[in-house]
Amino acid sequence: MTDILITAPTPDFLRKPLEATYTCHDYHASKDKPGLLKSIGDRIKGLVQGGGTVTPPELLDQLPNLECISVFGVGYDGVPVDYCKQRGIKVGHTPDVLTDDVADVALALTLMSARNFHLADPYVRSGEWEKKPFPLATSLGGKTAGILGLGRIGKAIAQRLEACGMKVGYHSRSAQAVRYTYYSSLLDMAREVQFLVIATPGGAATKNIINAEVLEALGPKGRLINIARGSIVDEAALIKALQEGKLGGAGLDVFADEPRVPPELRAMPNVVMFPHVGSATHETRKAMGDLVLANLEAHFAGKPLVKLIPELQST
Ligand code: 8YV
Repeated sequence: MTDILITAPTPDFLRKPLEATYTCHDYHASKDKPGLLKSIGDRIKGLVQGGGTVTPPELLDQLPNLECISVFGVGYDGVPVDYCKQRGIKVGHTPDVLTDDVADVALALTLMSARNFHLADPYVRSGEWEKKPFPLATSLGGKTAGILGLGRIGKAIAQRLEACGMKVGYHSRSAQAVRYTYYSSLLDMAREVQFLVIATPGGAATKNIINAEVLEALGPKGRLINIARGSIVDEAALIKALQEGKLGGAGLDVFADEPRVPPELRAMPNVVMFPHVGSATHETRKAMGDLVLANLEAHFAGKPLVKLIPELQST
C-alpha cells in the first residue's frame, strides 16, 4: 500500500477510508515527529492536511518522494505553492462543496452583529427580559455590504445579503461582469459601506490587509465580518479600533492564532464569535472528505486530480 502522512485531525468518515486504502502515518498525533519523519519520510507519497494547516518547506524537504498533497479544505494558504510547483508536487483541495455553508455563516454573523442576536438569546435565558425590553438594534435593509473577494464564496454571500435587502459592492483585483458595485480601492470601499465582509484567500498576499486605516475608514458604525482567514486582519489593530470606538463591531469565524482568541475580543459584547464553523456540517464535511479521497485516488491512478489548485493547473 502507498504510504501517506496525515498532518491534521481527520474525522472518522475520512480517516477510515484512508486507512483502508493507504498505510497511514499520523504526524499530527505523533509524540516524536522528527523520529517519525526520519524512519518513514522517504516512503511517503501522499500527504493529507487541513485547510488551515501550515506545511513548511522544511517538512516537505524530509519527504523526498512526496507526489501529492490533498487538502481537507478550500484554503491552501498553509501550502508552499511555489515550492510544490518546483518539485512537481500536485496539490488538491475541496472547493465548491462548502460554498453554501460558509456563505450561510457569513450571513449569520452579519445578521447577528447587526441585530445583537448573540445577546438576545441569553437575555431571555437569564430573565433580563422580565426587567426591561431588549435594546433596539440595526436593520440590514438599505445598508451596504462590501465584500472583499468575489469568488465562489463571495458571490454566495452577496446573494444572501441581497435577499436581506442590502446593497452589495465588492473589491478584488479586477472588476467582474456582475451587478454589484466594483471598488478598485479597498479603502474607498471601507469608507462607503457599513459592513465589510472578508471572503478572500489567506496567505502572504492578503496578510493584515485589513489594517488600522481600513478599520477606521469603516468607522464607528461599521462592522467587520470575517469567514476567510484570521491572517487577513491585523488583530491588534482590530482590538484597538474596537476599544477606542473607531469600529462599531465585528463578526468573526476565524482568528489569527485559532483556537486561541485574544481575551480582549472575548470580552466585547459588540463582537460575535464562532469557533471556525464555516464548513462544519455533516453534509459538507463528508463531501469535503470524499474530495480529499478522490484527489488522492485520481493521482495514484495516474490521472489528473479532481480539484487541482488553480496555480498548478497550467503546469
Ligand atoms: C475547514 C477551511 O475548517 O476550507 C477551509 O479552508 O478553513 C475550513 O473549511 C478546514 O479546512 C478543516 O480542515
